[in-house]
Amino acid sequence: MTSPERAVARVRLDAIRRNCEHLRLLLGDDAQLCAVVKADGYGHGAPESARAAQEGGATWLAVATADEAAELRREGLDGRVLVMGALTAADTRTAVDAEADVVVWDARFLDSIPTGGAHPPRVHVKLDTGMGRLGTKDPGEARALIERADSDPGVELAGLMTHFATADVLGDLHFPAQLERFRAFVAELGDRREDIFVHAANSAATFRDRACHFDMVRCGVAIYGLDPFQEDPGPRGLDPALGLVSYVAAVKRFEPGESAGYGRRWTASEPTFVATIPIGYGDGWRRALTNDCDVLVRGRRRALVGTVSMDNLTVDLGPDTDVQAGDLAVLIGVQGEERILCEEVAARMDTINYEVTCGLSARVTRRHER
Ligand SMILES: Cc1ncc(COP(=O)(O)O)c(C=O)c1O
Repeated sequence: MTSPERAVARVRLDAIRRNCEHLRLLLGDDAQLCAVVKADGYGHGAPESARAAQEGGATWLAVATADEAAELRREGLDGRVLVMGALTAADTRTAVDAEADVVVWDARFLDSIPTGGAHPPRVHVKLDTGMGRLGTKDPGEARALIERADSDPGVELAGLMTHFATADVLGDLHFPAQLERFRAFVAELGDRREDIFVHAANSAATFRDRACHFDMVRCGVAIYGLDPFQEDPGPRGLDPALGLVSYVAAVKRFEPGESAGYGRRWTASEPTFVATIPIGYGDGWRRALTNDCDVLVRGRRRALVGTVSMDNLTVDLGPDTDVQAGDLAVLIGVQGEERILCEEVAARMDTINYEVTCGLSARVTRRHER
């Protein structure tokens, strides 16, 4: 038997590749897939995920920061990279040096983009159709930026984009309203439309409405096999790429009245066995899961009991157990017939699957498997 490891995120790169292939099949004829690998590939490892996404047919990569773009280049990733976030002057230099496309929404930023490199930096104008974050809300300003970028030999106008606020809220009316605003703006571009990349959809929008695929979709969460609607990803054809495993470090018998963890937030009501698993909020397994989560050991769900601490948590094995120190503990993933989805953990943490995988700390070893 191989020796167990303390906290490992196993990332199946084939799953990322297949999820990308699956997403591409959903796309309109000419739409391309941009794989969003910001925040270290939503915790899955950015360069490895990016490579797997490219194998699955992604032709673009997107990140939030200039440093993330530079890291992809250092790791040898080629192809188009879009930096979607706000950039300081120093960040802009980094992004341009990494030959990444950048996003603009005001003339001052456009003017400050460094020129003089091998190619004019490529810019995407962002219209804020209702997200209320980055981008200009004023279609007139967006039009002026397009004209200005068009006539400035120092930059290349490469794209026009927006971002949806509620694509993951089924039945919500803000999403179609945003789409309509964007469509009307795109329609006004006339002939200019042919030469630029128009893009709007995140994962949820990609599933929700083909009308928002335009020339490219920017999918993040779905490429990792996580469900953008916080449901079981299976029925949408997505395969979760990440599993989180630890092991049983100790098994102890508890008598009624004995407690586990800080604050004595759980006390045995009858004789039972309790396993200690050496993973905790220092690894991203949040304290909010205290007394409210399951862990798989020997193919069965075991209730987390007591307080999640920085480095350990405890689970109740019941009065009669065959569990031994050294057994594998699965916090996300499949064991035997049982499965714990990231979406389940997220619901228990009162958050979304994105935050669960992004929240896994650097202390968790990432192991990339085929
Ligand atoms: C501008 C933009 N586009 C696309 C995405 C990808 O979103 P998702 O992970 O929901 O597919 C994000 C992620 O937050 C984003 O900020």
